[in-house]
Amino acid sequence: MTGRQKRNLIILTDPGQDQAAAIFMILGASEAFNVKGIVATAGNIDLSHTVNNCLKLLELAGRSDIPVYAGSPRPILRDLTTAEHVHGPTGLDGVELPEPKSRPAPGSGVAFIIDTIRRADPGEITICSLSPLTNLALALVQAPDIAPKINSIVAMAGAYFEVGNITPTAEFNVYVDPEAAQIVLGSGVPVTLLPLDVTHQMLSTRERLNAMRAIGNRCGPALADMLTFSERFDLDKYGWEGAPLHGPCVPAYMLDSEIFSGRHINVSVERGSPLTLGMTVADWWQITDRPKNAFYVRSGDAVRYYQLLQDCLKRLP
Ligand code: RIB
Repeated sequence: MTGRQKRNLIILTDPGQDQAAAIFMILGASEAFNVKGIVATAGNIDLSHTVNNCLKLLELAGRSDIPVYAGSPRPILRDLTTAEHVHGPTGLDGVELPEPKSRPAPGSGVAFIIDTIRRADPGEITICSLSPLTNLALALVQAPDIAPKINSIVAMAGAYFEVGNITPTAEFNVYVDPEAAQIVLGSGVPVTLLPLDVTHQMLSTRERLNAMRAIGNRCGPALADMLTFSERFDLDKYGWEGAPLHGPCVPAYMLDSEIFSGRHINVSVERGSPLTLGMTVADWWQITDRPKNAFYVRSGDAVRYYQLLQDCLKRLP
């Protein structure tokens, strides 16, 4: 990216090996992104682990200057669903990272979101959501005045043509907090969704993991080790040549949206049916007159995506 203004980001994340890749892509693209702060979400693993994982990843990348805030310890309405079966008991298994020297920033992640957006100029802040949307939804409920000031929300969330991963119909980030997803989709803030429909095209093949491992710094090999751990579940489940790499689709879209394609449609979240709870109903053929509340990304170019990730990783320690 040259000449374009930097995006000021608030990152919402529950790392999660794939989200480590997203955070590394963002940090490696320092000419494009200015990270105002990270809000750790309860999701893949409980909140204490996601806070610690954020601190560990920032330390590995030499960016402990970025504040990490603890978000809500649970979804808005429902008990927390975690995914240790994918990510391991720490949520970041596959590599032994030292306990972080830095501590989380004081105060709540929700208050950080509200205060940062209120202090910023209109359109200055972009929300980069890699996780369940709990903390953003809580901020929007507590401070509806921030909605018109948010530049946009770019989120890894949802699934339609690829159906679900945590249930037959629901994608994990939406399933964990479907009420939060609906609040965000109804906020009026411009939303771009990177659902499983596109992340399932971005497979971390052996060749791509080997390229990360060969970079010769500390972040590339560490990420390759993390993804080699978390891929087991998806390789067993899908039998593909690599596991889908979800998280980096969000910063990649912000770095080069031409890698992707989609359309503005209505996306609504099922919240009443036990059978299809958390399903994102994407009105791709615009059959209803429901408002077009999201840009829904359905496909992307995996070669350009992994080249972008590799280029960003090379700029890290
Ligand atoms: O469904 C994919 C999402 O669920 C990713 O964010 C992954 O980290 C898991 O949390």
